Amino acid sequence: MTDDVSRNERIKEASDYLRGTLAEGLREEITGGIVEDDQQLVKFHGMYLQDDRDLRPERTRKKMEKAFAFMIRVRIPGGVLTPQQWLALDEVSRVYGNGTMRLTTRQTVQLHGVIKSNLKATLKAIDTVLLNSIAACGDINRNVMCNVLPEQSRAHAVAIELARSVSDHLLPHTPAYREIWLDGERIAGGEGEVVEPIYGKTYLPRKFKVVVAVPPSNDVDVFAHDLGYIAIADGAANIIGWNVTVGGGMGMTHGELDTYPRTADVMGFCETADAVKIAEAVVTVQRDWGDRKSRKHARLKYTIEDRGLDAFRAEVERRADVKLAPPKPFTFTSTGDRYGWSEGSEGRSHLTLFVQNGRVHDVGGAAQQTALRSIAQMHDGEFRITPNQNLVIANVPTSQQAEIERIVREAGLLAPWSGLRRNSMACVALPTCGLALAESERYLPDLLTALDEQLAAHGLSADDIVIRMTGCPNGCARPYLAEIGLVGKGPGRYNLYLGAGFDGSRMNKLYAEDLDHAGIVAALEPLFAAYVSGRQNGERFGDFVIRSGHIAASGNGADFHANVRPYTPQ
Ligand code: HEM
Ligand code: SF4
Repeated sequence: MTDDVSRNERIKEASDYLRGTLAEGLREEITGGIVEDDQQLVKFHGMYLQDDRDLRPERTRKKMEKAFAFMIRVRIPGGVLTPQQWLALDEVSRVYGNGTMRLTTRQTVQLHGVIKSNLKATLKAIDTVLLNSIAACGDINRNVMCNVLPEQSRAHAVAIELARSVSDHLLPHTPAYREIWLDGERIAGGEGEVVEPIYGKTYLPRKFKVVVAVPPSNDVDVFAHDLGYIAIADGAANIIGWNVTVGGGMGMTHGELDTYPRTADVMGFCETADAVKIAEAVVTVQRDWGDRKSRKHARLKYTIEDRGLDAFRAEVERRADVKLAPPKPFTFTSTGDRYGWSEGSEGRSHLTLFVQNGRVHDVGGAAQQTALRSIAQMHDGEFRITPNQNLVIANVPTSQQAEIERIVREAGLLAPWSGLRRNSMACVALPTCGLALAESERYLPDLLTALDEQLAAHGLSADDIVIRMTGCPNGCARPYLAEIGLVGKGPGRYNLYLGAGFDGSRMNKLYAEDLDHAGIVAALEPLFAAYVSGRQNGERFGDFVIRSGHIAASGNGADFHANVRPYTPQ
């Protein structure tokens, strides 16, 4: 390996296929943490070492070690869980975690607050219901997302099959996870054995995210991901193949203009039989062409910006031995969830619930975690986590509908009346996320209450407007694709982004910087007023602010920071 690669590349190469010194570190009782190099490797096993940032000042004063605990992210392709799997995750969250489950924007569950000495027991409990956290984080293909689509289960069946095939195909082969966490035998490789045929010793330059979308719903936010498949159906709603998208990604760094979020390009069309081959080729081209010197420039989106889509497509076609056809037409209408009941097949229905910011817990008067547990105990369908941090109770027989509805109504899990709240997401941020610059999950509900008052005054309460907040510019809740995006800048301070497309196809742009709560409310108030008086029939808020000249439209990436106008509070 040459000298000029990033430190993470050396850690991966020296790790003996993701083992590092994790097994030894787990036995080290003097600290609740693990050594720095292993902190990078543990991500490939689906975990982040974190500490409770609320407790930092007190513990520093008392000269105590930080309150270390791990976040565990489960691998759940398409977000589909059996009731037994839900019950197992519910239990480990209460026994070993902080008593809450976090449904994520990428259709998985995160457990917070698991201390080092409980990690193995937690992962073993998860393993008994055939789940794991392999490659849920790290420089590798992560959880594969899939349209939730409760109303069209035939299409869902084909889409989820593709999501699972891609997920399985791109799993790492190293037995390190089983060895370290599940007390598996150490499997010694034979001389010259290829342990990782797809990834090699150093895996990918950076994280890699795949999704499967079924129009007209773009709930997975296909343009936000490295690789996407958009289902193309014939007149009889049979899926005939897939438009392939490449080069989407959200993360950027404040003040560094050569980092930017980017929406994916539609690269071409492939048949279902070729879809997995294409995935492997995209991954290996990125493995070989991606930037391993600078992690800030290592995502596929920059590879495609640097090399050009045509060169990238040609190399993918060569490696997959598949010629992509020109993309076929498709239309997305929204990125949101369809709340409430929808018809399934064979007398069964699906109920989409609203889970505020994906946090499942028992607080205040609403015992939501208990309510969902009682449903899991009686339910024989599925739990599907949506890409909007919500939950679908899927395949409910008619005989159970009334009872399930009663339970979720009582627990406050039905969608709220506010069109803004129905379309809101926040990343975790404080107190667990080490990268957070500002609050997100704990603050957004209060901001929504303030904004709802204004919207009500303008008669806009029922209008669907997408709002997303993150505690830092990494963009875990995909804020750059929200009609109103708020990104943490410092404690209590946010940058406000406006003008994204409701269908998830266009990014927003910076409107105002460093706003506090009052500043955010004051910036949006006049825009809501202008929207209600000036909008055209059916015009979305994100489109209106562009047409009415409040903000310039963003293209798909490098121009994200261009044409930003100075903000003068009104
Ligand atoms: C450089 C970029 C990024 C870094 C370093 C990063 C790191 C992290 C960390 C440390 C957490 C854990 C927070 C916690 O649970 O306490 C997290 C959560 C999460 N991240 Fe990221 N992230 C990045 C970008 C993204 C992007 C672009 C997406 C999605 C498109 C994403 C998806 C998620 C999801 C789904 C969660 C779980 C919480 C949620 O639903 O918001 N991340 N990320
Ligand atoms: S966006 Fe930033 S603050 Fe929020 S979870 Fe992701 S890394 Fe943490």
